[in-house]
Amino acid sequence: MLIRIPGPHDPRPSEITARSVYLNRRAFMAGSVAAAAAVVGCEAPTEAALKPAPKGQALAAARNQSLSVSDAPTPWDSATTYNNFYEFGTDKADPALHAHTLRPRPWSVEVGGLCHKPKTFDIDELLKLAPLEERVYSLRCVEGWSMVIPWIGYPLAALLKRVEPTGSAKYAEFQTLVDPEQMPGQKPSFFGSSLDWPYVEGLRLDEATHPLTLLTVGMYGHVLPNPNGAPIRIVVPWKYGFKSAKSLVRIRLVADEPKTSWNKAAPNEYGFYSNVNPSVDHPRWSQATERRIGEFRRRKTLMFNGYDQVASLYTGMDLKKQY
Ligand code: MTE
Repeated sequence: MLIRIPGPHDPRPSEITARSVYLNRRAFMAGSVAAAAAVVGCEAPTEAALKPAPKGQALAAARNQSLSVSDAPTPWDSATTYNNFYEFGTDKADPALHAHTLRPRPWSVEVGGLCHKPKTFDIDELLKLAPLEERVYSLRCVEGWSMVIPWIGYPLAALLKRVEPTGSAKYAEFQTLVDPEQMPGQKPSFFGSSLDWPYVEGLRLDEATHPLTLLTVGMYGHVLPNPNGAPIRIVVPWKYGFKSAKSLVRIRLVADEPKTSWNKAAPNEYGFYSNVNPSVDHPRWSQATERRIGEFRRRKTLMFNGYDQVASLYTGMDLKKQY
């Protein structure tokens, strides 16, 4: 999701096949003024030097079979070396190369705003706040690729209930850590991203409390590795992956629609809702199909990424306009 000015002869994302091509584009970008729009290389990294994240502490969690897809999970090595985490750089390989500087302990998450019992939770308390479940979800990135990941966590609703949202809370806003020492992509000298920090995402309160919305602390039986948003993130499986903010330090209950990072950067490309929708194209590429990492042929993208049970949240809305 690099931010840049598209030129008339730019290839479509689906035509960008080689990592070298992608890197050349980054060099081009360095000389251009960042504006709106995103483009990506969709290939898995090929650098031999790229090391999969080490597996941290094991987490016991019973699989929630009814909320799990039956597709084979993406291998750990791919899921931890092909990431979007702009706090460490704009290349898919950057988190694997640089996220070792992130310190996921000690860590706390402040939950506040329009609620009766605001509270700052220590990560160890969060790990025990509700029974951990494993859910195998598919993650569809707005860029046109997808993965299948066995996440570990519990419904975000369980945490929000603890702070007792007031009647005027209509949205939940999520903020990622800001610490340029731990997250080199946040240094002012860093080029390539024009996102404002912190990375901010948001959901309507009924979306945030939907049973599918997972407060996520692990994957593949272990605590979350750094490239995937250690120690705690959100996973919202029916929305494009950028709605699933990583390495959270703050959740605020608010009355108005939060100003989210990608929407601020390119409002015509990244709407607040960003529900996976094969019939609403990105302005510069189709969303009708996706490439599952590890597969060769593209597969059809499903409405709401296949999670039809969320459709009733959007009754009466025109999802072409409220994309
Ligand atoms: N969260 C933060 N803080 N920073 C990011 O750059 N990228 C988003 C999302 N969450 C991002 C983020 C995007 S674009 C995607 S597709 C997913 O994280 C990728 O999650 P993964 O790397 O675990 O597959």
